[in-house]
Amino acid sequence: MNGLRLLGTGRALPKEAFDNDAMTRYVDTSDEWITSRTGIHQRYFCGEGETATTLAIEAAQKALLASGLSGDAIDCLLVATSSGEYVMPSTACLLHQALALRPEIPVMDVGAACAGFLYAVETARALLIARGGRHALVVGAEQMSQLLDMSDRNTCVLFGDGAGAAVFALEADAEYASVCGTRGDMAIKVGGPRRSQPMAMDGQSVFRFAVSTIPQCVNQLLEGTNLTLSDVDWVVCHQANQRIIDASVRRLGVAPEKFYTNLSRYANTSAASIPIALDELREQGHLLPGERYIMVGFGGGLTWAGVMMRA
Ligand code: UT7
Repeated sequence: MNGLRLLGTGRALPKEAFDNDAMTRYVDTSDEWITSRTGIHQRYFCGEGETATTLAIEAAQKALLASGLSGDAIDCLLVATSSGEYVMPSTACLLHQALALRPEIPVMDVGAACAGFLYAVETARALLIARGGRHALVVGAEQMSQLLDMSDRNTCVLFGDGAGAAVFALEADAEYASVCGTRGDMAIKVGGPRRSQPMAMDGQSVFRFAVSTIPQCVNQLLEGTNLTLSDVDWVVCHQANQRIIDASVRRLGVAPEKFYTNLSRYANTSAASIPIALDELREQGHLLPGERYIMVGFGGGLTWAGVMMRA
């Protein structure tokens, strides 16, 4: 099986953090409500000069440095985003220019909302196989604050801005499994005519979708292997709500420590949440050779994706 191996990661956050008390400037809410319903304590929002593009560039530069590769070694570049600065050029094209990558490589944005990073990983693998390439740079970058209605307390307290990046190598013997899909559903939507509508979300239906999807993806990834969750060192799922993670832990009957969480500090950064978590895990000395990890993304669409890899 041609699988991917992680070579390096990076992350970037805007300078300014907004704690839950700061959100009371915008809407009728409280630290108590946000903390108890979501586990979120703060989020970062872009300020002057900061965008999904600038965050993507910073995260990607760090990931390249950590991988030990030069930009010339990258054979495809994908950016998962729903909140890029421009509809065109893609954020991936802007990043390609900033990193001065080779012109003859596929470069594009992937739109699969919060499952976008894993959709992009799977697309990168397919492109490398199809085109005989070796290395992929995959980025999740979001300026969610651009999509939010700051007078809607149902959504504005839940999201944050940020970017994470990862460099992967295609290797013939790398362990790899993936699943993905969609329900085709409008439970989270942004855009409409002239892209004028901010985010609207049916939180409870997304919640129900998420708590059934995470265990389902994990089980599907393990199906057909000789592995159980005890062979998996980390589960890195999209960081939306601590209660979603707690419910998944209960359904899977797994030790909660196996699920990496950082949503208390960043809130929901959509396609960026998984690569940001990967970067933190590596910084803390995890994802060492031999360690196996499962990633699960879910979100608008309603999309989902899961990938299992071995470091
Ligand atoms: O990447 C995927 C993106 N989305 C998600 O993962 C969202 C999944 N869903 C959720 O995480 C949860 O459903 C929410 C956090 C969005 C909401 O939690 P909930 O426990 O489902 O609350 P609710 O929507 O049932 O609202 C309960 C109450 C309502 O008041 P009433 O009608 O009971 O008087 C809301 O108006 O809480 C109220 N409420 C708030 N109160 C204070 C909603 N947002 C807030 C707020 N502060 N920010």
